[in-house]
Amino acid sequence: MPDGAPDNGSVTSAQTVAAATTTTLVHRPSGPDAQWWRSAVIYQVYPRSFADSDGDGVGDLPGITARLGHLSRLGVDALWLSPFYTSPQHDAGYDVADYRQVDPLFGSLEDIDALIARADKLGLRVIMDLVPNHTSDEHAWFRAALAAAPGSPERERYIFREGKGPDGADPPNNWESVFGGVGWARVTEADGTPGQWYLHLFDVHQPDLDWENEEVREEFDAVLRFWLDRGVDGFRVDVAHGLIKDQDFPDWAGHAEMIAGDDADNPDIGPAPMWDQPRVHDVYRRWHDILATYDGDRALIAEAWADTDEAMARYVREDEMHQAFNFDFLCTPWSAPDLRRSITDGLTACDSVGAPTTWVMSNHDVVRATSRLGLRTTGKGPNGIGAQDEQPDVELGLRRARAAALLMLALPGSAYLYQGEELGLPDHTALPDDVRQDPAWWRSGHTEKGRDGCRVPLPWAAAEPGFGFSPTGATWLPQPQDWGRYALDAQRGVAGSTYEVYRSALRVRRDFHLGTGSLAWVDGLPLGSADSVIAFTNRQLLVLVNLGETVLRLPADLELVHASQDLAVDADQRVLVGPDTTVWALIPS
Ligand code: GLC
Repeated sequence: MPDGAPDNGSVTSAQTVAAATTTTLVHRPSGPDAQWWRSAVIYQVYPRSFADSDGDGVGDLPGITARLGHLSRLGVDALWLSPFYTSPQHDAGYDVADYRQVDPLFGSLEDIDALIARADKLGLRVIMDLVPNHTSDEHAWFRAALAAAPGSPERERYIFREGKGPDGADPPNNWESVFGGVGWARVTEADGTPGQWYLHLFDVHQPDLDWENEEVREEFDAVLRFWLDRGVDGFRVDVAHGLIKDQDFPDWAGHAEMIAGDDADNPDIGPAPMWDQPRVHDVYRRWHDILATYDGDRALIAEAWADTDEAMARYVREDEMHQAFNFDFLCTPWSAPDLRRSITDGLTACDSVGAPTTWVMSNHDVVRATSRLGLRTTGKGPNGIGAQDEQPDVELGLRRARAAALLMLALPGSAYLYQGEELGLPDHTALPDDVRQDPAWWRSGHTEKGRDGCRVPLPWAAAEPGFGFSPTGATWLPQPQDWGRYALDAQRGVAGSTYEVYRSALRVRRDFHLGTGSLAWVDGLPLGSADSVIAFTNRQLLVLVNLGETVLRLPADLELVHASQDLAVDADQRVLVGPDTTVWALIPS
């Protein structure tokens, strides 16, 4: 179908495919001069678990630089680095003590310069994580705030309040921490008496900054410039929906989950006073203007867990950020109608503001897609899986994850891969509790296993100690013993391996310009019900996902381009597409 074709055109003239089909155009292609981030595939590097160069068992910047060739061979456009700033690591670096320095655990400023230079040579853009909602409690500002008196300018950079009840012994309101427990902590004043409380929507070591304070805004303007001047191509903005709080600080009956929508859907509870406040957008307009003074299409990417697609789209209006993670797709169950709805809604919402949609299946905060999709109930999944919990069906999960990957990589917009996804890595679902490091594990009173299972160091070489993650074999979290099968060297050059399936998908995606392409749903193919099959066109490709339980026989005139599994043929030489499989085929002319 030509780009921009009208609704309800026939998908193809070929008799066997076209007879009874209708198409519904949902998204039109973007122009050839579109900015790089509109269609980029961005690979998330989680520095502590990517590659260790010095043998201490924790990944580092030189380890990443040495392995950047893996990213360019895979065929991605950019990498996003999770935080490597100076940090006491109470929340794996999302507790920043110095926004202009690299933690010695990961290397030095020279190492990041070398990484950026190498990425540049390989044609890879570099996105950094920016953590503006809170600092570490070891940040110089917070130390100064503790040493200063209530009401001082030092305290006003954070959210300090008097407690309630006799002697101010109760927290200022009932807000909870996302990681569990009370969202406020009480300090001891200089004279040794119990004093004010400070807000921490995350760990107690992550005090929230007060974004009403102009000094805070100016500091982050300078931090942005510091890194833009060093050559980074943009920022992934952590907890972008959280910076502005309702200034009345009202009690709220909801739970401070990342997805405010869980509660906001409930009319008795109402909108969350700490998330997605309208004035937060002023901050991003200001940052947009800063980035616009730099060349090279620098980009801002919102981690905004918003209630609705419309709320998410507000972060990517023309004068704000450039992309927002589309978490609805990640949270959608493995079901054809649900996925189709999510894709339509995501594209429609972003199109309404002229922004690209993003597609994400895994990251460092959720159970990996391979494990999630192997559970009895699919969707966002639990916060971590432990040995006593339901264990995923690993083979089913991998099969579905590969099908989901080919669905995602055929969609127009930008796509995110989380390190190890290209290897089909599952979570470590049987980590011993005594090695867990995620604060969610402690703060939830051990009711949530937390995110360590998706953060285990990568396997590079099947036969080496620590699967080649580090020269000594040390790994900061233990790897499952059977991870040799996922190691890069066990998959590279092996036809049909998950790695090769991803690599080919990225090549076809690039060759066919799928990222800047269009999307039209195809209905009426003689292939089973819309409840179990997703079918759409993008550029010259017809994409079919079989989410049902029966084997589909492809129409004879379809020329296969790629598939998420090896496919069999029947006696008539018709290609058979088994359950949980995606195929890309050329639309016959
Ligand atoms: C974001 C990060 C997560 C972190 C939290 C607090 O959601 O992705 O890892 O714990 O913010 O900074």
